[in-house]
Amino acid sequence: MSNTIDNLLHEARRFPPTEEFAAQAIADAGLYERAAADRLGFWADQSRELLHWHTPFTRTLDWSEPPFAKWFDDGELNVAFNCLDRHVLAGNGDRVAIHWEGEPGDTRTITYAELTAEVKKAANLLTSLGIRAGDRVAIYLPMIPEAVVAMLAVARIGAIHSVVFGGFSAESLRSRIDDAEAKLVITADGGWRKGRVFPLKDAVDAALTGDATSVEHVLVVKRGENEVAWTEGRDLWWHDELALVDADHVAKAFPAEQPLFILYTSGTTGKPKGILHTSGGYLTQAAFTHKNVFDLHPESDVYWCSADVGWITGHTYVVYGPLANGATQVMYEGTPETPHPGRWWELIEKYGVSIFYTAPTAIRSFMKLGRQHPQKFDLSSLRVLGSVGEPINPEAWMWYREVIGGDTTPIVDTWWQTETGAIMISGLPGVTTLKPGSAQVPLPGISVDILDEAGTPVGKDQGGLLVVTEPWPSMLRGIWGDPDRFRETYWSKFGDKYFAGDGARYDKDGDIWLLGRVDDVMNVSGHRLSTAEIESALVAHPFTAEAAVVGAADETTGQAVVAFVIIKQNQLEQTEALDVAAELRKHVAEQIGAIARPRDIFIVSELPKTRSGKIMRRLLRDVAEGREVGDTTTLADTAVMSSIQAKLS
Ligand code: WTA
Repeated sequence: MSNTIDNLLHEARRFPPTEEFAAQAIADAGLYERAAADRLGFWADQSRELLHWHTPFTRTLDWSEPPFAKWFDDGELNVAFNCLDRHVLAGNGDRVAIHWEGEPGDTRTITYAELTAEVKKAANLLTSLGIRAGDRVAIYLPMIPEAVVAMLAVARIGAIHSVVFGGFSAESLRSRIDDAEAKLVITADGGWRKGRVFPLKDAVDAALTGDATSVEHVLVVKRGENEVAWTEGRDLWWHDELALVDADHVAKAFPAEQPLFILYTSGTTGKPKGILHTSGGYLTQAAFTHKNVFDLHPESDVYWCSADVGWITGHTYVVYGPLANGATQVMYEGTPETPHPGRWWELIEKYGVSIFYTAPTAIRSFMKLGRQHPQKFDLSSLRVLGSVGEPINPEAWMWYREVIGGDTTPIVDTWWQTETGAIMISGLPGVTTLKPGSAQVPLPGISVDILDEAGTPVGKDQGGLLVVTEPWPSMLRGIWGDPDRFRETYWSKFGDKYFAGDGARYDKDGDIWLLGRVDDVMNVSGHRLSTAEIESALVAHPFTAEAAVVGAADETTGQAVVAFVIIKQNQLEQTEALDVAAELRKHVAEQIGAIARPRDIFIVSELPKTRSGKIMRRLLRDVAEGREVGDTTTLADTAVMSSIQAKLS
């Protein structure tokens, strides 16, 4: 890692904004000056300018009980009104909000007026099902417009959504439903992926069997047209119910700190954390960053973020940011290679996409496929590209710019997290001279630093741990139901500074380079996975005695899950004729979801442990990455590594 980083830090290519771009850019260098002069005043101004407040706020930040921040807390607003009605009232009802494309090629064009009308009906439906402000609603849907409608309808009535990525298993869905005590699940019969319908309702049924649950109703959107089982009284068709409710709905104002959503993310323990976000501060930073980082001109741009709404990127940069800003966007249901490897580029040509936001893992897999695929399409409408989710290596950055961006577009490398709610570190197109591979600088109004283990800020050309030093509007307000874990996870290491869990380094110019997680969280294709969570899934299998999981470097996915498993003595005979690794891989996919399925499983007879019994993952990572094994002197039994290597060779 450190060698690679030293090489990266010598990256000499620079891309200053062109005069032409700078002349039309939304952002200007003055933003930094204004924010530096009066940080809180800057955010208050942004919030008033970008949002509609039913009741204007007079207080910007209340940090009297850290780490629990309150932003704009005496103000009132309605998040859905901000994303919908106000654009219609401003005369933009005919503007397209969503150009939706299903994987099989079916399409829907939805204007702001139509989306507003749908959300009003859905809000009435939720109310008729007994959902009140503060209640939790689980959403388990494919990438279809109803996902957006459902999220905004929940927000409109002051309830709290918990979107669960459609690729997660019944088991993962159940634990999220239980943790949040959701009263309602909104799902679909199925969705399209890789040319086939994948069932979703089945997983909901499986999740809700067994012990009693908090769920009273399941609303089912018809999408896959696949057969579904039906529980009378509990299950309801979305389209049937919507036809019965009133079309009119007046958005009520809620306090700025009204909870908006919970989104579960992997931490360092086996149990996912329910990250809680609230309304006014979140929407302010979502709108501010979406507008300035992507240089959004809502009247002319066509924006596309390829993330699924099941992740934070989908929440902030498919739903709340773009809709708060009145953007026109593309939403695509399926996978990039279906039915041909140029599908994404075809969509960019078809809809004239001008701003495109995706993850390095996608870019690297397109690099592998070759430039002939994008080159078949006219991508000249693109003018800004974005990257998120993991460090982007300079080679991928250059390919993205040359092949997708026609060698002209700025690329913003945006660092942020589920917890930060919105982008924190990124260059601004039209202002920043861009540097391939570096996320560069904190946004105006955001204060970050890099500290050493003792909490002392490091200087230029030095590395350490990334922290956020001042509260920011879209910061998480806690972990659902677990304030102690919130303090412990993010605030115990450096007191009043938020510890992000990432390593980072300043280069000679003071620009920031992200170096990946420093904890037991892996980043596979830009998705966060916890080693502990996969280990506990493996250990839950009757074959397994012990398991250790590491994230190994992978050319395409950034990291890949590699597991080392010890089989129980009494299972050895029984498993001899079986493909145990295949069985365990399947098991992990069932327990957590296909994204967590290990790339490799190595069956071993021992694991490397320190004298205090801690597994030395560093050594296993050496094995998984095919390197010479590092220093083993702290192992309780130094012969273990040779026995593991002998097994694998
Ligand atoms: C990583 C995704 C380098 C980082 C928005 C962080 C990045 C984790 C970048 C959060 C980037 C995200 N460069 N690393 N531009 N963006 N990360 O919660 O390790 O799914 O802590 O949020 O992704 O992942 P999450």
